Amino acid sequence: MSNNEKWKVYNPRGDRRVVVTKELPGERWLEILMQAGCRVDVFTSTEILSTEEISSAIGERCSGAIGQLTEVWGDELFSVLEKAGGSAYSNYAVGYNNLDIGAATRHGICVGNTPGVLTETTAEMAVALTFSAARRVVEADRFMREGRYHGWLPTLLLGELLYGKTVGVIGAGRIGAAYARMMVEGHRMDLVYYDLYRNSNLEEDIAAYADFLKSRGEQPVTCRRMERIEDVLRVADLVSLHPVLDETTRHLIDAGRLELMKKNAILINASRGPLIDEEALVKHCRNNPDFRAGLDVFEDEPDLKPGLIDLDNVVIVPHLGSATIWTRQSMAILAAGNVAGILSGYPVWKRESVLPFLEDNPPEAAPSIVNSEEMGIPEYAG
Ligand code: GLV
Ligand code: GLV
Repeated sequence: MSNNEKWKVYNPRGDRRVVVTKELPGERWLEILMQAGCRVDVFTSTEILSTEEISSAIGERCSGAIGQLTEVWGDELFSVLEKAGGSAYSNYAVGYNNLDIGAATRHGICVGNTPGVLTETTAEMAVALTFSAARRVVEADRFMREGRYHGWLPTLLLGELLYGKTVGVIGAGRIGAAYARMMVEGHRMDLVYYDLYRNSNLEEDIAAYADFLKSRGEQPVTCRRMERIEDVLRVADLVSLHPVLDETTRHLIDAGRLELMKKNAILINASRGPLIDEEALVKHCRNNPDFRAGLDVFEDEPDLKPGLIDLDNVVIVPHLGSATIWTRQSMAILAAGNVAGILSGYPVWKRESVLPFLEDNPPEAAPSIVNSEEMGIPEYAG
């Protein structure tokens, strides 16, 4: 099949053209774009498009695009989009380390992302990885399938109890804080966290939960914001990474920092692969069989560093953090809303919750535009 046959066109007579580089779940997102007068060109194959292929799909007339975190949207593509008369791009993701926002702004392109609908979903995946690693669920599943279960044993596949221990969170933004709450409120873990900013909401909620426990005569949980990442790594029994990926966080966890962690600690990453020096992690897990890792993301995604797949103490899943039906459909609605909103000349939504965009009669605003200030897009006041 030639690439041309892999594109599906909706509303061919629409007077604006929007390119969407992957099929998205649900119907609503397409309706949003079509109601905004757009013809929508969707790439229907699962192959990852190259910059050249995207560039030729944009062609000479294109008002906007929805792209994926697997694509590099930098000077080249934003320049092509500008020349095609485009003014709007949305990433189908909350993270946007695959974009050059400065370049988008220079080319007059408003750039959107999809926050607020994958917070709990992604935190739940981090929790799933946490217990899979702590209780060796994947290893045990393999053990069963291989027909190796010959009867209950006192010493079979022992893991780690997390209840009442210390959870470390690095990056206490929305997802990190949601994960922290799940582990503290669900499993009565003490929290230590590192973030450039204090998360007072989280701290206050945990303090209130501690008061509640005290009032019942139970051991209260604690919460401490640490000055340094090292302090978190040293004391935590479990560490989950939730910062954004940029030049300051690349290889945030390297060989030296792994050495600081407890020998039987658990390390979780459902943020971005390059936060961890994956080669160093392979070595560390090999040398420390009681150390465990749960990874949703990889340094050279979709490739894995040599040796990773041979390690029983590592649980790996293919970047599924936001992969629930509700979240992926909601992300599509927000991405379409970003593009349609900018093309319709709407202001930008700056409130904490984007949930009104998922309801009937959504606000006449673009849900989340990351360079709205630089682009001079006013804030929604309705
Ligand atoms: C997924 O990784 C996202 O950033 O939305
Ligand atoms: C996650 O950080 C979100 O904004 O949903």
